[in-house]
Amino acid sequence: MRMGRFLLVGGAGFIGSHFTDVLLGKDGVESVTIYDNLSSGRDWHFRKHLGNPKFKFVNGDVKDIETLKRAMDGSEVVIHLASNPDIARAATEPDIDFREGTYLTERVLEAMRLTSAKRILYASGSGVYGELGMVEAGEDYGPLVPISTYGASKLAGEVLISSYCHMFDLTACVFRFGNVVGPRQTHGVGFDFVRSLRSEPERLRILGDGGQSKSYIYVEDVIRAVLTAHEKTAQKFQTYNVATGDYITVREIAELAVECVGLDRSKVKFEFAGGDRGWKGDVAVVRLNTDRIRGLGWKNKRNSREALQESMNALLRDAELLYASVKA
Ligand SMILES: NC(=O)c1ccc[n+]([C@@H]2O[C@H](COP(=O)([O-])OP(=O)(O)OC[C@H]3O[C@@H](n4cnc5c(N)ncnc54)[C@H](O)[C@@H]3O)[C@@H](O)[C@H]2O)c1
Repeated sequence: MRMGRFLLVGGAGFIGSHFTDVLLGKDGVESVTIYDNLSSGRDWHFRKHLGNPKFKFVNGDVKDIETLKRAMDGSEVVIHLASNPDIARAATEPDIDFREGTYLTERVLEAMRLTSAKRILYASGSGVYGELGMVEAGEDYGPLVPISTYGASKLAGEVLISSYCHMFDLTACVFRFGNVVGPRQTHGVGFDFVRSLRSEPERLRILGDGGQSKSYIYVEDVIRAVLTAHEKTAQKFQTYNVATGDYITVREIAELAVECVGLDRSKVKFEFAGGDRGWKGDVAVVRLNTDRIRGLGWKNKRNSREALQESMNALLRDAELLYASVKA
């Protein structure tokens, strides 16, 4: 089956690098272009594909729309992954999620309006729901009241996409991911714990009280969810929650990190920063209903614990490469 020509905006990052691997291995994919400014993406994520005639990397910023349009021209499907990955950063830089979030989505849509690309697959996040406690949010839950500028930027991206779909004949699938984990992660709680325990094995500083409880989904499950929806959905605009359906606390993740790094738990002191969340804007408890994506035949292969375990093992395997390229 013909799958066409893909442009991965923000494709040099963690999730994008897995899309690149999967798409280049699929029959029917004619080309994969990564467009990325390498702000949090890494060139070693895609280096192995550089000789492949179906693959191209363009080093560019989304805000440079002329370069973006040139890179996009000829593509049919845009997977939009570019954004500021550091949710806590807005506390000191309040406009970051607008400049490196909402505005990027507007630029991507505008480039699509002016080129051949008419289908967008967008990486949104559970942050659009805001603080719902134990309420399991389905995609039609409302009102949506984000509590971080990151969540606001994801929601703004969604509504911009919806409006472009209706005004300029684009089609879209929007994905509200839970926490995504796996090899080549560039950030996240497991990533931080493994890094910290490698450099200081006798203590682990934990943000909040450790009771934060969320779903962690393995990156391969995420890629399959996105491509399943892309292949099976004909609607102009549709949203999908993508999560495992089970949950794990930050304290349990800390225990798991100690085990993965191979330390004796009785010798590692856990130091809790206190409070019920990691940082201002963090949603401490996240529950997502995933019936819609499951209705298309998708299932996650790993639960939260398995996903975290595999990702931390991969972080340890890639540690030299990873932590050398990411500032502490
Ligand atoms: N990782 C998760 O847990 C998670 C959860 C929900 C949603 N998401 C969303 O999925 C997307 C991908 O996440 P990720 O974990 O792979 O993050 P990432 O930081 O590894 O990837 C983002 C990529 O975008 C690029 N980028 C950022 N700003 C850019 C700009 N102005 N111009 C060009 N490129 C730019 C970065 O260099 C990076 O390669 C993000 O939009 C993120 O918000 C991620």
